[in-house]
Amino acid sequence: MRILVKNIKRLYQAEENPRLAVCGSDMADLPYIENAYLIAQDGLIADFGAMEDLKEENADKVYDAYDRYVLPSFCDSHTHLVYAGSREIEYIDKIRGLSYEEIAERGGGIVNSALRLQQTDEEQLYEDAMQRIDSMIKYGTGAVEIKSGYGFTTEAELKMLRVIRRIKENSPATIKANFLGAHGVPLEYRGKQKEFVDLVVNEMIPMVAQENLADFIDVFCDKGFFTVEETDRMLFEGVKYGLKPKIHANELAKSGGIQVGVKYNALSVDHIEYTGIEEMAILKASQTMPTILPGAAFFLNMPYAPARDMISYGLPVAMASDFNPGSSPSGNMQLILTFACVNYRLTPQEAINATTINSAYAMDVVDSCGSICKGKKANFFITKRIPTIEYIPYYYGENKVDKVFLNGKEQ
Ligand code: NIG
Ligand code: FE
Repeated sequence: MRILVKNIKRLYQAEENPRLAVCGSDMADLPYIENAYLIAQDGLIADFGAMEDLKEENADKVYDAYDRYVLPSFCDSHTHLVYAGSREIEYIDKIRGLSYEEIAERGGGIVNSALRLQQTDEEQLYEDAMQRIDSMIKYGTGAVEIKSGYGFTTEAELKMLRVIRRIKENSPATIKANFLGAHGVPLEYRGKQKEFVDLVVNEMIPMVAQENLADFIDVFCDKGFFTVEETDRMLFEGVKYGLKPKIHANELAKSGGIQVGVKYNALSVDHIEYTGIEEMAILKASQTMPTILPGAAFFLNMPYAPARDMISYGLPVAMASDFNPGSSPSGNMQLILTFACVNYRLTPQEAINATTINSAYAMDVVDSCGSICKGKKANFFITKRIPTIEYIPYYYGENKVDKVFLNGKEQ
């Protein structure tokens, strides 16, 4: 199958030589080709360039993108989109003034989602999650990392990961699975958290690895959740079983989460609202992608991560949706672009780099996603007729994506 997209007003994020990530002041640069074409063959990007260099127009299908832009699909490197039920009642508690930690202490929050997940069968979880992904695809997302973490028991964690495996097999999106056994402490383990960590280490990790159910391992390393020492123990074990770390860190305090993530060469450390010069220096000397989750900080009305300081310091920044029923009930990456610009003062170009190439790195798919590059998956979208690329974050709340292609196929 060969498709040709021609007369593209601008083909964005096109690169001859694949980059791993974009750092610091380079994030302001979003390369493009004016009046361009793009050819996909058998699911991969086969060729692209300026229209005047297009040699022949033979293809199974030709799309005319006159007055429209083409961008690589967003990579959403942090989601919890397999979940049961919703938590709008806690949202009301929050409006009335309770904090995220207070809600968690009352048995709400993650504990609430865990109870519901345990009571929901695999089929239902799968169907609900696939619907969410289909909607994300329509908004331009082409790769999604999905975490477990609402299980709390070995059985329910394995159930979640099997659902993610089914999604991986059946969704046109590129999916990565992250084992987040240590997302919260189940009520029956309160006061004996060490025993729960023992369960994660001695039972869950070996079983997850045995069934080959996860690519990554995650821990919520933060004040009131898991300590640096506990995180260290779980990451050590996960790495032993071939799982790459990608962790929740420094959302609620300077928890040492960034340091322990870097110690284990984590692909990314995520949230990182509480990041100072010490943490930035450690990140600068590492291969770990600093990942900000603007949806969660917005929805919880919490402090924003110092994205501008990170970029000035020469760091790369990735951004993801954190789609989950508690702190970020949306997987709309166009909205993340708006938050990136308004709340973190990123330019639209920086925001697009953060949600394409840098987030591809953060979920270990940068060799196949995140830019328009020969040999990568033909995952891209054609915009509606909009005046500029800046219009995408500017005209927020509405879908600016017209046609989506994943693996070279129109969705
Ligand atoms: O990334 N911070 C921890 N975990 C999720 C929240 C999950 C939930 O509240 O259900 C997050 O924001
Ligand atoms: Fe999260």
